[in-house]
Amino acid sequence: MTIKITGTGSELPEKIVTNFDMQELVETSDEWIRERTGIAERRISTGETVSSLSAKACQKALEMAGKAASEVELIIVATCSPELLLPCCACQVQDMIGASNAAAFDMNAACSGFLFALNTVNAYLQAGIYKNALIAGSEVLSKLVDWTDRGTCVLFGDGAGAAFVEASADDAVYDNGRKAGLECMVQGSDGAKGMVLSCAERPVNNAFVSEKQTVNPYIQMNGQEVYKFATRQVPACINKALDKAGLCVDDVDLFILHQANVRIIESVAKRLKADIAKFPMNLDKVGNMSSATIPVLLDELNRSGKIKKGDRIVLSGFGAGLTYGASVLVW
Ligand code: UT7
Repeated sequence: MTIKITGTGSELPEKIVTNFDMQELVETSDEWIRERTGIAERRISTGETVSSLSAKACQKALEMAGKAASEVELIIVATCSPELLLPCCACQVQDMIGASNAAAFDMNAACSGFLFALNTVNAYLQAGIYKNALIAGSEVLSKLVDWTDRGTCVLFGDGAGAAFVEASADDAVYDNGRKAGLECMVQGSDGAKGMVLSCAERPVNNAFVSEKQTVNPYIQMNGQEVYKFATRQVPACINKALDKAGLCVDDVDLFILHQANVRIIESVAKRLKADIAKFPMNLDKVGNMSSATIPVLLDELNRSGKIKKGDRIVLSGFGAGLTYGASVLVW
């Protein structure tokens, strides 16, 4: 038994916000943002929600897979910016797409969310509990961003990506000797460093608390600490995953990394001694969409024919938590 991603989809808000637009809001420049991050523009919601974006991305993934919504058995939405605490976003998506036979729940591993959801789905499918699952990574980070804080507001964007994953009994080996499926994964967390990238929820101000508390409801980040974490941890966990699978960097065709900063991706490529051409990027157009970055890029590459059957892909994410992970799969 193996698992296959048989459909991908993505959905972005309509509004494009360029670095020049950002110059009107905070003391920044197109040059600074491009040089330090690689971002030129991002999509920002003017009403699209995490669930509406997820539902559209999921529908596209289902269409590509040629499946009806009623056939979906499990829906996991990875998000850290749902519009509601209850019900969860995955249940809203279930209703929107009409997947009435699915179990649905959300998962929050921030920017590693889609990857952690994929690994969870792999475990469910391998255990024979479900035969298929829809996974979305979806964020409307623009509502969590302090639009007066130039250190964070220029980085993030809104959007959603999705994948339909199926259990497959097809053990066929491709001409290159590889078999489709998830070959190996590594996940990790470092909660002790969690507060370097945080966003508060409502404080405990119930009827029994005498001194009411207030919190800053926006994303707060020590960018340099996150940068150091990512540039060390991402190559280390990719190497660990490849070691586990008995593979080396040269056995990989594409590295689809969380799109946070072009300098982080270049540094990872350098540390791995891998050709930067194997690291596709789209963050110039969409910015950092947290859990949505990996599935949106995956969908872009899939639809444009840049991923071929038999290609070996490494997906790797890192983010708030702190969380990180790498999965090796053959398409
Ligand atoms: O999904 C994970 C999410 N987080 C990340 O990926 C963050 C990882 N970290 C980064 O990508 C980088 O640390 C940043 C892009 C956030 C910042 O780049 P940096 O090269 O580490 O800049 P810095 O924080 O060291 O700041 C350098 C200067 C500072 O000014 P002074 O103190 O040298 O006068 C900042 O105040 O740049 C200033 N600065 C800005 N200037 C213009 C910070 N943000 C901006 C801005 N425009 N938007």
